[in-house]
Amino acid sequence: MVVLGAGPAGLVLGNLLLRSGIGCVILERATREHVQTRARAGFLAANTARVLARNGLDAGLRSRGREHSVCEFRTEDARFRLDYSRLGQGERHTVYPQQELVTDLLAQYLDAGGQILFEAEAVAVRDADGTRPWVEVRDADGRPSRWDARYVAGCDGRHGAARRSIPPGAVRRHHRNHGVSWLGVLAEAPPSLDAVGYALHPRGFAGHMARTPETTRYYLQCAPGTSPDAWPDDRIWDELTVRMRAADYGALRHGPIVQRAVVDLESDVLEPLRHGSLFLVGDAASLISPSAAKGANLAVLEAEILARALVDDLTKADPESLNRYSAQCLAYIWRAQEFSHWMIRLLHRAPGTDDEALFQDQLRRARIESLRTSRTHQDWFAENYVGV
Ligand code: APR
Repeated sequence: MVVLGAGPAGLVLGNLLLRSGIGCVILERATREHVQTRARAGFLAANTARVLARNGLDAGLRSRGREHSVCEFRTEDARFRLDYSRLGQGERHTVYPQQELVTDLLAQYLDAGGQILFEAEAVAVRDADGTRPWVEVRDADGRPSRWDARYVAGCDGRHGAARRSIPPGAVRRHHRNHGVSWLGVLAEAPPSLDAVGYALHPRGFAGHMARTPETTRYYLQCAPGTSPDAWPDDRIWDELTVRMRAADYGALRHGPIVQRAVVDLESDVLEPLRHGSLFLVGDAASLISPSAAKGANLAVLEAEILARALVDDLTKADPESLNRYSAQCLAYIWRAQEFSHWMIRLLHRAPGTDDEALFQDQLRRARIESLRTSRTHQDWFAENYVGV
């Protein structure tokens, strides 16, 4: 088995295969240091914690993760909080930075004798439509090599070799740019509130998400195509202060901005998630906007589903689960896409000032008001917000 990519998807899959005695190698383009320090997602859903726990991969999460269950909305009309551990299915998030999860998973994989090559870039997956696929690989000095396998798992993200290797027309691509961009920053500053903050302001959306006691992620809606360099630290803090209505609800805790990037809110789903002997997992399978923090959770869930199916196929000669892999994961993916799409429409004004934009904006305000006042709506929100 060859696994491409050592993100959450590839490392969960690698650990589970290794534990079941299935020989595998992980090929990772970046260095070990790079994958262990890349700050990305941080909100793990209850189900993700359960997947990690039942596979014995949750020691770090249990000792250093922090439970989280409140989000706060600040709008032009009101401020309100939802404690989703008391709503819906009563579940919580665990805040645990992705780089720590990746570091844990990698250490466990190596301790169990797992094989991984860093700075090994997959160039292409060849002969995936047959039963002897192979991966063309290039090392950091450009030297080529070849890895043969029974199956290849593409856990190498949206721009990886797995997606690229599927011939045009063999799978359907559903792509949507939601027309909204966020400047995402990481501040070396303690969280400013004990909740995820969603601020809806005439100047645009602003978001606050705790990462660790010393670091916080903030988001600012910005014009599509904006350069992150147009946002020096002072401008970021000034804008966050206005949009989060710090004058009314409490000052923000400032600190240096150590990371900034502009992301377009996009959806991108391939269907099916399989091409012959090649399977797509995590970001390689589907991309989801960060509006509802679902990406890493889907990646872990899909990796477990694929690992179990591969074990059935390779150790019991039972291909049934493998044949169901794509349909099973797509059902979760589309539920998550639907909720993220709902969140995008909840958190952003329609652009422009024409009749349609004003109409849409009144619907958005009514939607927020319903969420503020209706227990039924809150239960639905909680179930989808923390679930996968
Ligand atoms: N060959 C080998 N490795 C590659 C290649 C390649 N051609 N291209 C990319 N990679 C590696 C990247 O360096 C990265 O380490 O694949 C890995 C993919 O990891 P992630 O991008 O973290 O993707 P995934 O494991 O699917 O996790 C997805 O986690 O960060 C969250 O929200 C984020 O949705 C995302 C989720």
